[in-house]
Amino acid sequence: MLQIADISFDSPLILAPLAGYTDLPFRLLCREFGAGLTVSEMISCHGLVYGQEKTKKMLASTLEDKPVSFQLFGSDPEIMGEAAALLNDYNPTLIDINMGCPVKKVTKKGAGSALMKDIHLAEKIVSAVCKQAKVPVTVKTRAGITQDNITALEFTRMSESAGASAITIHGRTWAQGFTGVADWGIVAKAKEIARIPVIGNGDIDSYGTALLKMEETGCDGIMIGRAALGNPWVFNKKGRPNTLREIIAGVMSHLKLMQVHLDTRRQLAYIRNHTSRYFTDFAGSSQIRQTVHAAKSFTDLEIFISSLQINE
Ligand SMILES: Cc1cc2nc3c(=O)[nH]c(=O)nc-3n(C[C@H](O)[C@H](O)[C@H](O)COP(=O)(O)O)c2cc1C
Repeated sequence: MLQIADISFDSPLILAPLAGYTDLPFRLLCREFGAGLTVSEMISCHGLVYGQEKTKKMLASTLEDKPVSFQLFGSDPEIMGEAAALLNDYNPTLIDINMGCPVKKVTKKGAGSALMKDIHLAEKIVSAVCKQAKVPVTVKTRAGITQDNITALEFTRMSESAGASAITIHGRTWAQGFTGVADWGIVAKAKEIARIPVIGNGDIDSYGTALLKMEETGCDGIMIGRAALGNPWVFNKKGRPNTLREIIAGVMSHLKLMQVHLDTRRQLAYIRNHTSRYFTDFAGSSQIRQTVHAAKSFTDLEIFISSLQINE
């Protein structure tokens, strides 16, 4: 069973942070389908400290959302500490620190993957966040900067000594971005040296593969990102259903959660994007996706999806 500090989770499978996707409705859905923990989209420490509306909206949560981890990104230890202190009012279960995002907008300010180039600064950030947080703090990083500059083991030791309660390692390097394959050997090595739980991440696309990787590497939990999009069943032993009726039922649950928690008039493009991801690998998928993308309102979308159920 996955345990981080004194918190036990009922499944070791975790929904990874995905900017633009892991908002409250999607987290609630994945939790309902079996995720033991979910992680928010990355939240800017500056946005939080300067009280930006967009950032505050990202902190929407409910009791059913628990256990949830809120992920912070930034490169200034003081501001990261202040942001962690502010997060205490939002009652997350954990606070995660992003030390792996390769997106230029993030790295050019020294945050995300860029922190792998400066372990002393990274350490100051972990210490500052741990000092202010009332909940356990975790770190998410990558295998390293390049294949010749692997940093994950140093980051495991550093995170542990600076007070973090777990570390997630995405087995790709910064240089790889999202290309190539994740190296799970580095996850196994980190587990050998770590006293804190190690969570492995990268390319897991089913419940069975997740358990296999845990067995192979000895890691304590598995984070799943892209494979959860349009497929919350990935957190469940039974996996993705093979009847359209069951898939539609899943989409309808997701639509209901989005209706309750989002402004469905303003966020139609976002909702269409999530919805179309359910229709990928069966006959008629591309026609369905086209209709989903052409929907003019949330109601049109809902009517169309439920009509699929009737027509089956
Ligand atoms: C669209 C997208 C958004 C992401 N956003 C974040 C993020 O906000 N914070 C973060 O630490 N990682 C982010 N990641 C990386 C994922 O959390 C994960 O580490 C990566 O996708 C590898 O896991 P996977 O193969 O299961 O998808 C993002 C990845 C994608 C594809």
